[in-house]
Amino acid sequence: MTRTRTQVGIVGAGPAGLFLGHLLHLEGIDSVIIEDRSRDYVVERVRAGVLEQGTVDLMRETGLGERLDRDGMRHGGVYLAFQGRRHRIDFEALTGGRGITIYGQNEVVKDLIAARCRSGRPLFYSVEDVAVADFDGARPRIYFRFEGEEHEIACDFVAGCDGSHGVCRPSIPASALRIYERDYQFGWLGILAQAPPASDELVYALNESGFALFSMRSSTVTRLYLQCAPDEDLGSWSDDAIWAELEKRLGTADGWRPNRGPIAQRGVTGMRSVVVEPMRHGALFLAGDAAHIVPPTGAKGLNLAVSDVRTLSRALAMYYREGRTGMLDRYSDTCLRRVWRAQRFSWWMTSMLHRAPGSCEFDYRRQIAELEYLTSSRAAMTSLAENYVGMALE
Ligand code: FAD
Ligand code: DHB
Repeated sequence: MTRTRTQVGIVGAGPAGLFLGHLLHLEGIDSVIIEDRSRDYVVERVRAGVLEQGTVDLMRETGLGERLDRDGMRHGGVYLAFQGRRHRIDFEALTGGRGITIYGQNEVVKDLIAARCRSGRPLFYSVEDVAVADFDGARPRIYFRFEGEEHEIACDFVAGCDGSHGVCRPSIPASALRIYERDYQFGWLGILAQAPPASDELVYALNESGFALFSMRSSTVTRLYLQCAPDEDLGSWSDDAIWAELEKRLGTADGWRPNRGPIAQRGVTGMRSVVVEPMRHGALFLAGDAAHIVPPTGAKGLNLAVSDVRTLSRALAMYYREGRTGMLDRYSDTCLRRVWRAQRFSWWMTSMLHRAPGSCEFDYRRQIAELEYLTSSRAAMTSLAENYVGMALE
């Protein structure tokens, strides 16, 4: 058994775990990050694409701005499409100049891995049999196997950044947690296509056949999503069928439609809303998807993960610098205020833009009426805009 010691043991090297390690390093706080997948898997996994202004600002302030400034695509608004027409929501005009940046989650992860390597602090991939223990007391431990050898890390704190299927949250006694959960009876079929984006901003569409979303990754790669069954069989979709459905749902009467191209990657994602309260148990702090999941329609998941770990890093810095635990004690409440606000917004965007199984024509007409109101009222558009670009980080 190899025994090591660190200040903060971080489980999971997704955006939450890697960003936490980065922020702690900048505060001079030591950490060990462990990840049960391979480095290639973590880097290649195609997920989020929308960064809020606060996430972009934090990346820049912490030395992660170089590739982001070169390759990130700043957008000042989005389109909502329904009944054959596209309507622009002008974020910049409605929020005093705030916007979003399109930059793939895997690019964020690459930047964070490079920063970790520069820091010289440990990051283990492909670890096995991860367990967290003794976080009720003052001497928490993380156990795992790496290249056949057993490891024990003694730490002051454990950060559970291991996503929605990790080990940290299930290690907390169920009686100490309250879990709020809502299932949606649909999912998203997502594709990456080698095709230049046909619009310079995102298009969220509601059509009689359901939701579709047009997004992008670069000047040559389009990212598209289609509402589908949560357990949709990808094998039953030919490329032509996917394109035909996307064109039907996204296309507008003026002839606009996404450009077609070879499909490079495809996948199906289910949709859930989950909040775990509190986000702390003793010396174990949950952050990101380990503590909450939002349906992707509001583009909040990655941004919430970043906001959680920023709050946690500041609280830990206060503890190590001044010995004060106040911010750590408030960690869960501070994060949950933002989490619930994002949950509300993500649920609202999702409900407005999808056709739920079992819903009726009345519901669809009501959704269209809501979209008509939204795109004609400055007050309603401002509400969407300020939530979409995100609250300022505290
Ligand atoms: P994860 O990224 O899940 O990272 C957790 C890590 O922990 C993983 O690498 C996992 O392998 C590892 N792990 C798990 N178990 C263990 C273990 N036992 N031991 C060690 N490691 C472990 N969010 C947005 O903000 N904007 C968007 O536009 C957006 N679009 C999305 C589109 C799709 C299709 C999907 C699926 C998600 C989208 N999201 C979006 C959500 C976003 O991707 C997640 O919220 C984000 O990945 C959360 O980061 P995380 O680090 O908390 O969790
Ligand atoms: C993307 C993902 C989202 O969930 C969203 O709401 C907007 C864009 C994307 O992957 O580009």
